[in-house]
Formats: sequence, C-alpha cells, structure tokens
Amino acid sequence: MGYFIDDIASAGAATGLKDARGCAAGTSSAVALGHVEAALESMLSYFGDPLQALDEAARCDPGWAWPRVLKAALLLTLGEYEPARQAADELAAASQLSANPRERAHFAAARAAVQGEWETACDLWERLLVEHPRDVAALLFAHLFDFYRGDALNLRRRPERVLPQWSPELPLYGYVLGMHAFGLEEAGHYGQAEDRGRAALEVNRRDPWAIHAVTHVFEMQGRHEDGTRWLSGRAADWAIDNGFAFHNWFHAALFHLERMDTAAALSVYDEHLAPATDMALQRVDGTAILWRLKLLGMDVTGRFRRLRSFWHDRGPAAGFYAFNDVHSLLAHIGAGDEDGLADSRDSLLACMAMPESCGSSNRRMASQIGLPLARALAAYARKDFAGAAEGLLQVRDRAHGFGGSHAQRDILTLTLLDAALRSGQAALARHLLNERHEAKAGTALTGHWRQRIAAAA
Ligand SMILES: [Fe+2]
Repeated sequence: MGYFIDDIASAGAATGLKDARGCAAGTSSAVALGHVEAALESMLSYFGDPLQALDEAARCDPGWAWPRVLKAALLLTLGEYEPARQAADELAAASQLSANPRERAHFAAARAAVQGEWETACDLWERLLVEHPRDVAALLFAHLFDFYRGDALNLRRRPERVLPQWSPELPLYGYVLGMHAFGLEEAGHYGQAEDRGRAALEVNRRDPWAIHAVTHVFEMQGRHEDGTRWLSGRAADWAIDNGFAFHNWFHAALFHLERMDTAAALSVYDEHLAPATDMALQRVDGTAILWRLKLLGMDVTGRFRRLRSFWHDRGPAAGFYAFNDVHSLLAHIGAGDEDGLADSRDSLLACMAMPESCGSSNRRMASQIGLPLARALAAYARKDFAGAAEGLLQVRDRAHGFGGSHAQRDILTLTLLDAALRSGQAALARHLLNERHEAKAGTALTGHWRQRIAAAA
C-alpha cells in the first residue's frame, strides 16, 4: 500500500519556526502552527475538537505533513477499527508531504501503531523523547499506548524521564504533571500521585486527566466519600463539554457502588454513560458499570440489550483490542442468551479467536489474556461457575498485560468472587476478599461480599 513508503517526500525547509516548547516545526506558516498548538492543548485537556484544529492547520499549510500525522496518531488512540482506517488514510496523505526530521520520526511511530505494532510505536516515540523531551505529542501518545498495553512501569517512568527538561513557564507543563500523577497512581505510589495530581491542577485546574489521576488514588485507597466530594466539587472542570467526562462519570459510579448506593450508580449510568456509545472507550465504561450492578443482583438486562446493540452494530465486532472485546462479551452475556444474542456473542468469540488477523500487540493480548478470559466468561454465561472461577483465577493476576487500570480490571476479581460463591467455594471467595481489607475493609461493598460469603459458608 502506497502509504507505507519509507520516507516522507522531503525534509521540509528550515523555516526557523518553533513551537511553544522550542521544538522545530516543518512549516513556515505561523497560523498553521497556532492551530497545531490549539490541537495539542485540546488533545491533552479533552476540551474542544483537536481534529478540527488539525484540519485547520492542514488547510493553512497543505504541504505540511505534521497535522495529518498528529491526526492519525490521535485517531489511533481511540482503539478501534474505523478510526484506525481513517488514520491509515491520513498517513497515506502525509507520506506525500513535507516534514522535518522530528515530524518524520512521528510518522514512523504512527505507521507502526497503524500496523498494530504498539510496542514498536512506543519505542519510536521514546527515541523522539530522548532528543526532544519537550515533544508533548510524543509523550502523550506513548502515555496512552502505555495504558493500552498495561505498561505501568512506563506510565510512571516516561514522564519522569522528561520532566527535568520542562519548567513551569512552558505551555502545557501542567499536563505533563498530570500524566506523571496517573503513572504514579498505577504504580501504587498513592501519596506521590495525589500530590503530583494536585500540583498539576495548581497549574491548570481544567485538566481532567489530572483530576482523574487523583480520583484513582481515592478509588484505590477506599476513600469513596472523598472521591465523590472531589468529583462533585470540581464538576465544572471536567463534566461539561469534555471528551473524557464519560470516564470520570464511570469513577463517580464506582464511588457510589463502594457505598452500595446502587440507585445512584444506576442513575449515573442512565444519565451519563448510556447516552455515550459512539466510542468503544465509552461502551467499555458503561458495560463495566452495568456488569457490576448485575453482580450485585440488579436486573439490568434491558439496559444490557440496548448497549449490546451498539457493540454489535459498530462494524467489525472484535479483534482490534482484546480489552474492549472482553467488555463487549460482558455486554453480550448481560443481555441474555436468546437466539439472536447468542449468534452475535458466538461471532464475537470467533473474532477473538482469530488474533492472527490483527497486529502483533493485540495478538499477544488476545492470545495470552483476552481469549482465556473470554472462555472463562463464556463458562460463567452457561452457569459453569466452577469453570468460570478456575479460568478467571488462571488469568486475573496477569491481566494487567492487556491494559486498563487497576480500577477497571477489578471487574475480573468481582466476577471471580461471584463465580466462586456460585460454585460453592466460599473459602476461595473469603481468601480473595481479604485483598480488599487493606484499603476497603469498612466499605459497604466489602460488607456486602462478606455477608454473601458468610451466608454461603
Ligand atoms: Fe480511570
């Protein structure tokens, strides 16, 4: 295919223009560069429309590859087929345009990502950061793909490797602190993560990623009341007209569930998650809340059926990213086992069983984690709870390898608890519940599971 040529047409004129952090730009149009700067801030803040800003940049300098390369990488971070196809088109167009060496290196990274080689893409972005530690786009893309690959080490260390080359007066500095805060949290450094996230918000209070990082700290420390106050007190900074709001609403629902306020969690789902179905990232969070409610005994079958239809109707069902596929399967299971649903569930499983059709990164994640989990969940669906518990036990402790956060992957442990109890393994359920006692011994949710275990025993 023509867009996988090795070199962008030319290395671009030495224009002398630099972005706000001193990175050389391959354009002589200050207006185009201004649009790119707006796009970068939009990408980092999730406010505004970065794709529109990048299109404006491309319109102002049609010969400049960089806006299209950025657009391609951004589309790839959405983690599903159709945006990835659009990304391939953008790279095809970019391959005919002019770029400087840094921008060409970005092209190579985005090309690796579009081929499904996410590890290679992160390696290439990392090499860029060695020479250009203030290249915030390289940092952001690598950070997001670190998240998708479950690379907690680099979620923390990658921002650490560049932060000394930044300074507070540089535009977008606060967002680097926000990324570091999230990396610290996923690495279990909760105190540092909270401090770093709050520092990011001192620079820029409208940083939903930093708000989210501190939210995770509250989640992991069992501080659900603090978490609810945190999110509600800062709602103006993340909940309105923000592209990441759905995920912070997911966390708001988790806090409700920790206090066993299932009605409030369901209300969050109905008001904020059910209407957000365009992106797989959104459907993942909606599915996760419904599944947790189902585990707590609520009948959410009707909601699952509606949500499943969005999973089912969005083109190729599976095979792009195993983490999404597992959530799609949960929605199918939650929607019930009637004939039509079983057909789509079986086709989803078939797609997941053909990981050779995808890039190497998802091939690894699907074969090592996604498929074994899918088999365990399929056992759960046919009420083979002993088989489900055994399958979940085999995969749970290495499931970080298919991405997501600790908070998101907790759905596996909760399902395992339920399967253990339903298969008469109260001792196993008690054993697993003990993990929650360090941080969440006194929460209503832990009490709920303790009661179920006591009743089963
Ligand atoms: Fe999160």
